[in-house]
Parts: sequence; C-alpha cells; structure tokens
Amino acid sequence: MDKAPQLIQERSAPPATLVIFGASGDLTRRKLIPAVASLARHHRLPREFALVGVARTAMSDEQFADSAINGRGLRDHPQLDGGIRYVSGGYDDPDTYKRLAETLDSLDAERGTAGNRLFYLSTPAEAFEPVINGLAGAGLNHARPGSFARLVIEKPYGRDLATARELDAIVHSSFDEPQVFRIDHYLGKDTVQNVLALRFANSIFQPIWDRSWVDHVQITVAETLGVGTRGGFYESAGAMRDIVQNHVLQVLALALMEPPASFDAEGLRNEKVKLLQAIRLPTDRDIADLAVRGQYTRGGTRDDLMPGYRDEPGVDPLSRTETYAAMRLNVDNWRWAGVPFYVRTGKRLPARVTEVALQFQRPPHLPIPTDQLTELDADALILRIQPDEGISLRFGAKVPGHSFRVRTASMDFSYDKTFREESPEAYERLLLDALLGDPTLFIRTDEVEQCWRIVDPIIEHWAKDHSPIPTYEAASWGPTDADRLIGRSGRKWRNPGGDA
Ligand code: BG6
Repeated sequence: MDKAPQLIQERSAPPATLVIFGASGDLTRRKLIPAVASLARHHRLPREFALVGVARTAMSDEQFADSAINGRGLRDHPQLDGGIRYVSGGYDDPDTYKRLAETLDSLDAERGTAGNRLFYLSTPAEAFEPVINGLAGAGLNHARPGSFARLVIEKPYGRDLATARELDAIVHSSFDEPQVFRIDHYLGKDTVQNVLALRFANSIFQPIWDRSWVDHVQITVAETLGVGTRGGFYESAGAMRDIVQNHVLQVLALALMEPPASFDAEGLRNEKVKLLQAIRLPTDRDIADLAVRGQYTRGGTRDDLMPGYRDEPGVDPLSRTETYAAMRLNVDNWRWAGVPFYVRTGKRLPARVTEVALQFQRPPHLPIPTDQLTELDADALILRIQPDEGISLRFGAKVPGHSFRVRTASMDFSYDKTFREESPEAYERLLLDALLGDPTLFIRTDEVEQCWRIVDPIIEHWAKDHSPIPTYEAASWGPTDADRLIGRSGRKWRNPGGDA
C-alpha cells in the first residue's frame, strides 16, 4: 500500500459563502449537499463558511437546514453550525436578490465570510438568465476589493452552438470569464484526471499513443438506469446533449490531446480545444454512416422487467428522443489521422461502465499457426473510469502446457487495491476548486463551442429525419445499427461487464 506523500499541501477553502440556486432541487440534494458535508467532514471548510439556499419553494432557514443538511450528518460540523440560510423567492423577482444581498452582508458580519461569494446555478437551464440578471441587478456580480464573486454553471450550457453563444453573451454582460466556472462533473472524477497522470507522468505510454500503434479507440459511457424521474428534462435533451456533448467529448479530449507544457488552467484547456478543433465534422451525407441513435423499449428479465422509455413518467408516449447515441469520429492531425474513434452512451444498457479502450494494431507478422491463436484478442489498454476504477493492459500470453498456444491475458491496476486514500466525489473536488478559484477542471467558453460544433450537425440531422427511431430492448447493448456502425470497418464493440 502506498502512503500519502506528506509534502502534498492540503487544500482548504478560504472564508466564503456558497449560494445554491435551485436549493430544493434534485442535484442539490443528491450531489451538492453531500459534497459540502464531505468537505466539512474532511476539514476543508473554514469556520468562516456559510451556505445559502435559494429557491422558489417557501421554507425557513431551519427547515432548509433540517431537510438538506441535518439529514446528511452535518449538524455536528462547527463549520456550518448557525451558518445556513435560506432565501425563498422567484428568480425573476428583484426582491429575491435584495434579500439575498442582505443575507450575505449579515453573514459577512456575523461569520467573517469576507465578502467572498460562490454562486452555484443548479436550476433548470431556463432560470440561468433571470438569476444572472438578478444577481447583476443587486450588484452581486461585483466583489468588493480583495474578495471574489464567482459563478458556477451546471450543464446544459445551451441547447446548441447558437443558444450557448446567447447564454455566454448573458453571462459576460455581468461576469468576466475568469469569474465563470462551467462545470462538467466528469472532470472532477479522479479516474478522469488519471488519464492525464497515465499519459504525462510516465514515459512508456507516450510513444505508443498515436496512429502507428493504435488501431482504434472506443469510449463508452454506459448506464443501467433509465431516465427515472427526469423524463421531463430528458425529453428535451436526449443522450447526445446529456452525455456526448459534455462528458464523452471531455474524456476524449483528455485522452487524445497533445501534452500540455504545464497543467495550469490555460495550458491544459488550450490543448483540449486544439484537439476538439481537429475533429472532422460529418456532412449531412455521411451522418447516417457515422452516427446512430436508439431508444430503449421494455426489456430485462421476467423478475426484473423494465419499462420502455415511452412509458417512463414525463415522457411523450410517441417520443423520438434518443436514449442511446454512438458515433465514429476522425481527428485530423498528425497524431491521429486515419484512426477511428468510436464513442457511445446509453441508458438501460446491461452494465454501468465508463471506459476508454485503446486497441492496438495486430503484430505485422505472426510466427504462430493461426489455429493456436483462437482466443487471442488484439492488445488493448483499458482505462476504467468507473466503476471498478483502474487500468487493464490486455495482451497475449502462452497457455501453460506442452503445446504453444497463445491466449489473451490481462494485467490490472485497481485503485481500491493500490491506494488507501479514498477518492473524493467529483462534486466535492470541483466545489473546492471553485472556492479556491482554480478553473483547470472547468470548461472554458471556447471548449463549449467546439463541443456543440461537433454534435450540432448530428442532432439537426436527426431532427429532420422522420423515419422511426431505432430501438433496443432495455438491458441490451443498444440498437443493431450500432453494431453495423463499427462493423463497417470490420471492428466490434467491447461489451465490458456484459455479454462479452
Ligand atoms: C449527468 C446526466 O450529467 O450524468 C445523467 O445528466 C447521467 O443523465 C449522469 O445519469 C451520469 O453521471 P455518473 O457520474 O453517474 O456517471
């Protein structure tokens, strides 16, 4: 077991007030409050810290503290004792922001939160504009000298390139870019950051990380869950906007970009943008060959029968929203020219797994009779983002015995078995970064635009296509079109943890 290096500086938040808009919402309850609780538990919050919830639902400070906080075991944390407030009001009502400003001033005076404010927009996207305008109307977009006012914005950041630009114009009319932290929680996952460690803290991988060694790459974000209670939201998003535009393309950018000179925010984000810019856009003519969508229907087993997407609450019974998307991408640069990148995501697939798998080329010549190689797959390096976090290297090895048979074997690194330290939750890491003012793991405005540039033509093409949406049974690996997509080049999907 490795011991934590003693020299690594512990990171703790400065005095500040975290203001969560959408305080009575699902994300706040499931992710943000537990993240605050965990930061408090790990002593990452100073005594001069306060939390303010803002939402339309009427609630008292005590009720908010009780429902959100005490249930999460925060009661015993002195950092939060007495430092929780709630402001109820409409997002487009200037009075809400007036009362918020008074609350923030009184917290500064009582708790020493030093005028530092982190505004977290965890509302439905329609509320972003009124909240930003409301904050600006009350002067809360400007911090007093020596303090900070920052804005964290949840996805979806627009519905396409045009609306993302409109949102940016609204954001930038009141906040400067360095104040803006666009969140993609995948970047807060340790295993996603480990893509950087693997690639750039080692010398052995860099030489094989290119077109001369890599045959193709598969990036999978598979979920077993359906849309649950989020049908209403999901209907207007779909898999492409919900997962591909952000999580998949972020992981892809980190896995394929050039080495940055340093891991500072701009160095890293510049390289991601350059990579995203090098992704070739599909034309309307080749989209059918390069992108596939699907929607889950009823499936599973007799004991565990899952409803189809159209039967989920909040979903149109004739919905054409995709719950599965797969694409073949090409990156037009020296490192990757000619290498296909297959990405896919879906709800109600047979396994929950996120991974990046680099499959290497077959040896140029095999001095072994082919009948002795039947169980030999191509070499592969698999970065297991979640669950079962780790890395596997798959290669051929001689099967013990008198004959010379070769079969696939694998070397595995597991986070669990190697490190004693626990991974912080993604939201915990990112909240702390935002409180510290470190934008490295947040999305810059030009990255958002590049990502929309890539998915927009496909979403538009699908919107115009009135043929029936391909379907797949719940608990299967997606529509058969997806097998054809990858099969066209003679390759096939890895189906990790599932049927293969
Ligand atoms: C969110 C999507 O961004 O990511 C959800 O809106 C999805 O639909 C979730 O379920 C997946 O996150 P994770 O961390 O569980 O892989």
